[in-house]
Amino acid sequence: MDRLSVTTLNQLDAAGFAAALEGIFEGSPWVVQAAAGRRPFADRAALLAACAAVVGAADRGQQLALIRAHPDLAGRAALAGTLTRESAGEQASAGLDRLDPAEFARFHALNQAYRERFAFPFVICVRRQTKQSILAAFEQRLTHDAADEIATALAEIVAIADIRLAERIAP
Ligand code: GUN
Repeated sequence: MDRLSVTTLNQLDAAGFAAALEGIFEGSPWVVQAAAGRRPFADRAALLAACAAVVGAADRGQQLALIRAHPDLAGRAALAGTLTRESAGEQASAGLDRLDPAEFARFHALNQAYRERFAFPFVICVRRQTKQSILAAFEQRLTHDAADEIATALAEIVAIADIRLAERIAP
């Protein structure tokens, strides 16, 4: 797909804008739909900031739904091959698509412990990490309280969106 310019994004109708940015926020089209009303944007950073403001202004239930729209790392969807294109590429970038059995068991146990503690999946901007740093963050974030962890997960989701936008938008 050709990369879009911010100028083009500013000129599309609201439905076209949302369609062009489909998948930037995993399973959560409402974020870019709401950001459409905040146009025009001077640049990609301004678009991202508007999306971050939409996420920040959402109620706690919507924020939790956004976090819960993310698949586990090396989880069931990854095994079944049902990840979104974006998520599959991200997980592969850190080698999570080719874990050995011991690593796979460790991710499985951490995913389970994290979901038991917080009732949402562990979200981290995988493209900024290595397999080792993901595992270290997993252990460390398991010690957080829920409010801190929601804030951390939402910040990671904005970081994921930044990288997804960079791939979709012409520099
Ligand atoms: N970090 C980057 N992409 C993803 C994803 O799809 N799921 C989770 N849990 N973290 C991510």
